[in-house]
Amino acid sequence: MTIRPMTEADLDQVMELERAVFLHPWRRSFFLSDINRPQGSTIVAVEDGFVLGYAVAWGTEETHLANLAVSESERGKGVGSKLLAEVVAFAQRSKAESMYLEVRVSNTIARKFYANRGFVPTFLRKGYYENGEDAVIMEREVEGEPQTKSEARG
Ligand SMILES: CC(C)(COP(=O)(O)OP(=O)(O)OC[C@H]1O[C@@H](n2cnc3c(N)ncnc32)[C@H](O)[C@@H]1OP(=O)(O)O)[C@@H](O)C(=O)NCCC(=O)NCCS
Repeated sequence: MTIRPMTEADLDQVMELERAVFLHPWRRSFFLSDINRPQGSTIVAVEDGFVLGYAVAWGTEETHLANLAVSESERGKGVGSKLLAEVVAFAQRSKAESMYLEVRVSNTIARKFYANRGFVPTFLRKGYYENGEDAVIMEREVEGEPQTKSEARG
């Protein structure tokens, strides 16, 4: 499996995955502008030409992990950890002090995934999602955080 920058040629597969994973998928144009964003990291995990997952992050002082998804059949194999480790490396290159993300209160798998990788819940953003669900904001420091087991593995 390779982690590399997302290109326009990946967008058909990325959109298929995005629609399969999320209730309110991003539009293609969002990914397109993120590919071209100067202070961003928009990456895919690819194997044999198939996109297994992707991540979108941006920001300088504070890195915002805006999107992360892995194909359902490929979960639990470390793909998400590797994508996240690459976003952490981007944050380090950007000299960001911290990273944050929003996750649905009901998304217990993702909340645990992030908690196991150094993110702590900081506050709730009430009614953040289209269906009125709250978002949990989770944050971690970029430097000085001990490397987690999964990052070391990746
Ligand atoms: C969150 C997500 C990106 C993780 O990707 P992944 O490739 O499965 O991640 P990894 O294989 O590196 O690690 C998976 C972790 O979740 C656990 N896990 C995997 N599938 C699970 C399941 N069905 N139930 C409970 N835990 C599960 C694994 O045990 C592992 O735990 P660990 O923290 O002890 O290592 C993936 O589950 C996903 O795409 N979810 C849907 C989209 C989403 O929620 N994105 C985040 C929005 S903020």
